[in-house]
Amino acid sequence: MAAPNDTPTAGERGQDGQAHPPLHVAIVMDGNGRWAKRRGLPRTLGHRAGVEALKRIVEAAPKLNIKWLTVFGFSTENWSRPAAEVAELMALPKRYFETDLARLEREGVRVGVIGSRQGLSRDLVKICDEAERRTVGNDAFFLTVAFNYGGKADIVDAARRFAEDVAAGQAEPGDITEARFASLLSTGGAPDPDVIIRPSGEQRLSNFMLWQAAYAEFVFQDVLWPDYSAHHLEAALAEFYTRNRRYGAVVADDALATG
Ligand code: FPP
Repeated sequence: MAAPNDTPTAGERGQDGQAHPPLHVAIVMDGNGRWAKRRGLPRTLGHRAGVEALKRIVEAAPKLNIKWLTVFGFSTENWSRPAAEVAELMALPKRYFETDLARLEREGVRVGVIGSRQGLSRDLVKICDEAERRTVGNDAFFLTVAFNYGGKADIVDAARRFAEDVAAGQAEPGDITEARFASLLSTGGAPDPDVIIRPSGEQRLSNFMLWQAAYAEFVFQDVLWPDYSAHHLEAALAEFYTRNRRYGAVVADDALATG
């Protein structure tokens, strides 16, 4: 529990009795394929419906006082899907930014696209760069799309960057700290997610934000991503508020009990 006058961390109740909303929510947008299959539709239409769900959640999150939202759009492992599906997935950021970037820009949303740009078409790289450039001065809400992203690759890239600094004489091996390493990740500068949500019933991380997930709470929901709505996000937050976040410590009452 927060001591009087302490700012409550996400999930804790402040002096007003209100649970503090998570600063950063991350979502594995899963279940597009099953959603389509249940309707006898091609998987591609499931992904398109997934973009509509993303739009709903980007609109809902700031209203729930969430400040950072990171969504998993394409993993480094998704390249192994059939070529036609990969092509559809590659078209999603364009589909999203073409309709929504102007509004995001106007509403003060800062957009980031993390993950490797290698292997992406020139057009797609241009769209992602443009979304970042046009919103660079915004800070009302932070939307990060993880695309061609893998948590392991992110960690390896950060290690490589630090090794390059050492080789260039700009750092000593002993200079590495958790904070410095975190700053070298693609999410450098962002707070770690307080909660990671995965709809669709699957209960795994799938190489998403491995480092950043160290003290995240996990909420798994039995809904397919294209059906995901503000109501599901609220339910995920309600579940998050029931969690007792200890960060490896003990709560004050238990410490007294153990003497
Ligand atoms: C996993 O569902 C979902 C994906 C691989 C793609 C997620 C992308 C979106 C929801 C739209 C993203 C929009 C942008 C702007 C990037 P799945 O296909 O594995 O579903 P399944 O497990 O039911 O087969």
